[in-house]
Amino acid sequence: MRVTIVAGARPNFMKIAPIIRAIRKAQKEGKNISYRLVHTGQHYDKKMSADFFEQLNIPEPDINLEAGSGTQAEQTAAIMIKFEKELMENRPDIVLVVGDVTSTMACSITSKKLCVDVAHVEGGLRSYDWTMPEEINRIVTDSIADYFFTTTEMAGDNLKKQGVDAGRIFFVGNTMIDTLYCNKERFRKPEIWDKMGLHNKSYFILTLHRPSNVDHETTLETILNTILSSTSGFPVIFPVHPRTRKMLQKMKFEDSRLIQLDPLSYLEFMYLVERAKAVITDSGGITEEATVLKIPCVTLRNSTERPETVLIGSNELVGSDPNNLKKYLTRIIQNDWKHGNIPELWDGNTSERIIESLLEIYR
Ligand code: UD1
Repeated sequence: MRVTIVAGARPNFMKIAPIIRAIRKAQKEGKNISYRLVHTGQHYDKKMSADFFEQLNIPEPDINLEAGSGTQAEQTAAIMIKFEKELMENRPDIVLVVGDVTSTMACSITSKKLCVDVAHVEGGLRSYDWTMPEEINRIVTDSIADYFFTTTEMAGDNLKKQGVDAGRIFFVGNTMIDTLYCNKERFRKPEIWDKMGLHNKSYFILTLHRPSNVDHETTLETILNTILSSTSGFPVIFPVHPRTRKMLQKMKFEDSRLIQLDPLSYLEFMYLVERAKAVITDSGGITEEATVLKIPCVTLRNSTERPETVLIGSNELVGSDPNNLKKYLTRIIQNDWKHGNIPELWDGNTSERIIESLLEIYR
């Protein structure tokens, strides 16, 4: 069986690393499986891409399509044109896409147009917020994919509601959590730790990159000011996404308690998450990592495609209303937070289940 694995943007890299490891393990056991790794180039900065390959021991991609930057349509088009050529030259039995980024959708469409099967790892998630580019990516991908590897039972139910036959849905757990467990002992102290004299539970960690939070100056300014006025003097460590960096530079926003850093590598970022008083974020993946590490997590969004992080885990959906944000941050300061549990099958063995299922399907 030949698998083409697609990765394009930062949150994809931790999802494909354990899948490749599981394929290599299967190869060692004599199973008939080979893979080709395609990097679309959606994320191209060293700190958004190459550092993750290095730290997570992901092999060099077989090809980089170098289709980064530009508008959503420009990115989608560039990826599709180049991925079509790649598939025509190297036709696999199945294309494996992960997550919900532009590359996920673009490569799914391209594959299906060439009648190549598609499997969607992390299929079935729904925020029901159609203003999110990721929701469009998820819905398009899930409406054409052949097989779905889901992180939760609820994701499977969403697919069934959409008319997907239960036999094409495999509830396997979360590959991002495979990466977390596999690397937990390797989390690496970032420079800022000693430089600022940080210690356990002595700081907040903040990430922001959603267009709805960072593309308008007044919205971003209100969020940052509310956070700074509600975190009781604790430093707020803020690894800044390139998109957000552009706006902060324009605004010239500075505050001595807001520690703006370049994007951190996986091992350094997770070191900080594991020891933080709390995480404040608009990312989806980080709410899952905080859930597994049982760290209080405040999500600056009005919807989530990952409701289990709230229903089971340590995450709360707070939205962008400053009063609401203040209320939740005060609860963290007062140590008034739920403990949370870990969702079913988020156990570190998801990728092996995926490969076993694929080998069964293409027997
Ligand atoms: C993308 C994903 C989002 C994911 C996020 C994590 C989509 C629709 N969104 O959002 O789901 O949570 O990645 O990082 O796919 N840029 C750089 N250097 C880079 C990458 C991007 O400067 O290495 C710039 C781009 O040129 C662009 C902006 O940052 O101007 C946004 O990048 P883009 O890939 O469009 O989306 P993200 O906001 O990163």
